[in-house]
Amino acid sequence: MSRGGRRLVACAALAASVGLAGAVAVTKPRPAPVIIVAGETNGQLTPCGCSEPMMGGMPRRATAIQRLRAGRQAILVDQGDLTPAAGRQDEIKAETAVEMIGAMGACIWNIGERDLLLGPAYLSSLKARFNGTVLAGNVRTSTGAAVGNPMATVTLGAGTQALRVGFVGVLDEALAGRNAASAGFRLTPAAGAAQRGRAALTGCAYRVLLYHGPAERGVTAARAAGGFDLVVTAHETEAAGRTGGVRTLCAGSNGRAIAWAGLGPGASGGIVRLGADIPESAAMRRMHAAYVRRVRDEGLAEQLPRTPLPQGAGYVGAAACATCHPAAHSAWLGSRHARALAALRRTGQETDPECLPCHVVGLDSAGGYAPGARAELADVGCESCHGPGKAHAADATMPLRPGAMEACIGCHVPEHSPRFNREAYWARIRH
Ligand code: HEC
Ligand code: HEC
Ligand code: HEC
Ligand code: HEC
Ligand SMILES: [Zn+2]
Repeated sequence: MSRGGRRLVACAALAASVGLAGAVAVTKPRPAPVIIVAGETNGQLTPCGCSEPMMGGMPRRATAIQRLRAGRQAILVDQGDLTPAAGRQDEIKAETAVEMIGAMGACIWNIGERDLLLGPAYLSSLKARFNGTVLAGNVRTSTGAAVGNPMATVTLGAGTQALRVGFVGVLDEALAGRNAASAGFRLTPAAGAAQRGRAALTGCAYRVLLYHGPAERGVTAARAAGGFDLVVTAHETEAAGRTGGVRTLCAGSNGRAIAWAGLGPGASGGIVRLGADIPESAAMRRMHAAYVRRVRDEGLAEQLPRTPLPQGAGYVGAAACATCHPAAHSAWLGSRHARALAALRRTGQETDPECLPCHVVGLDSAGGYAPGARAELADVGCESCHGPGKAHAADATMPLRPGAMEACIGCHVPEHSPRFNREAYWARIRH
């Protein structure tokens, strides 16, 4: 890396390493080069698959990027927040995410506040896996080490056609807040870092401020710094337009969309929402399958914390209820609840701690379902709604936990069951 924190990023070479199918069609006249922004993946490597209208995921992202790249020069930027950094599973996810965005040809990863929660040591090992430039102009570790570069330049094309694009990357200090300090980082004001970065960007035809924060503050910082041609923001709804007269771009949260902007005055831009109409990249699916295997091999589901049930309480499984409640049992057998674990097997996620809680009985309780143990508690069973039934099954006068109807919304949350409606859903499983 050269002095001044600059680094030339070989974007074209990265694009070629994507390994995705399909030849690049060269059309003429050549359309304007584009900047493509993705990010705020927040651990959503793939949509969970719980229902159809779900958006996002790396496999669709890769296809959408490949389509935008077709026939034109492109710079792919990741706006950070790879994962929520909530534990070991998110570390495995973050490693996978970095490999995925690298394979898609991302040149720049602008650090978000959630990335900082991985901690200085881990973040540093993660950066080593990224084959582009990490930007974090206003972030240092509490021991004073830089977390990323303040800026990067990317040159598209060669010779007289060469177009040099400069990037300054900062993280909104208010957004990072006190969590960043507890995680071991110190932030200086983003606006000051944007100004220093802007001053150091020389010979660039196009200047981009990657502001990990809301557009209003990003645009204010960009103005104070002397102006940028484009401000890429975060933590807002996906949008390609203008904020206070300045061109802004935001890919939105949870990796549900990507945003793009053509380079040059008057060039267009837009949003691509990653819906089911976009085919999934097989290469990304393979990388995701490798992630799923790592989660399994590390036995993360076996390591989950479990709460003991009250004295005398325990789970017995649906078969133990069948003798006295044959009608309810056969109604249940005919429902999708009785096949909920099989649904996870389709993607090999039947040991994934992020999926199991809603697809089996009692994952959070001692004596509840665990992979390889208590197979009778697989699937969404009677006791998922009626509570632990050991005492009642032994003595029918013992009451069960009341409020079975209230249990639905513990699993049928909007994120996983967007069409949930109590009356309509109950009608389908009535017993
Ligand atoms: C918060 C609870 C919850 C979590 C966590 C959860 N699911 Fe689900 N899942 C559901 C519910 C509820 C449904 C039924 C949705 C509906 O039909 O309205 C469902 C349905 C499914 C289906 C069946 C879809 C179909 O149409 O056949 C699959 C597959 C699935 N989930 C996979 C997963 C995977 C993979 C994960 C982990 C990445 C996961 N789920 C995590 C609650 C959850
Ligand atoms: C030995 C027979 C027997 C077994 C086994 C049994 N039940 Fe019952 N259950 C009954 C009887 C009898 C009643 C009616 C009790 C009453 O009305 O006071 C009842 C009532 C219920 C009720 C309605 C009253 C309430 O407390 O909510 C539910 C729900 C229920 N059982 C669920 C289950 C489940 C779930 C299982 C398995 C874990 C189970 N039962 C196992 C005999 C049994
Ligand atoms: C998805 C949640 C869910 C599952 C799974 C479930 N139930 Fe229920 N069950 C309910 C609800 C909700 C009611 C209605 C409670 C009410 O009316 O307040 C109910 C009612 C009952 C009743 C009382 C019926 C009556 O006439 O009052 C029995 C008995 C019962 N369930 C047994 C079972 C058995 C046995 C199983 C497993 C084979 C089972 N349930 C699985 C949610 C569930
Ligand atoms: C422990 C989590 C959990 C609870 C509690 C739960 N569900 Fe479910 N439900 C699921 C899962 C997971 C699926 C998807 C199973 C599959 O398709 O593999 C599902 C599927 C369904 C389906 C099938 C959807 C379809 O499109 O056919 C209905 C209906 C349903 N649930 C109704 C209910 C109702 C009503 C309640 C409350 C009385 C309830 N569920 C409580 C997890 C739960
Ligand atoms: Zn963020």
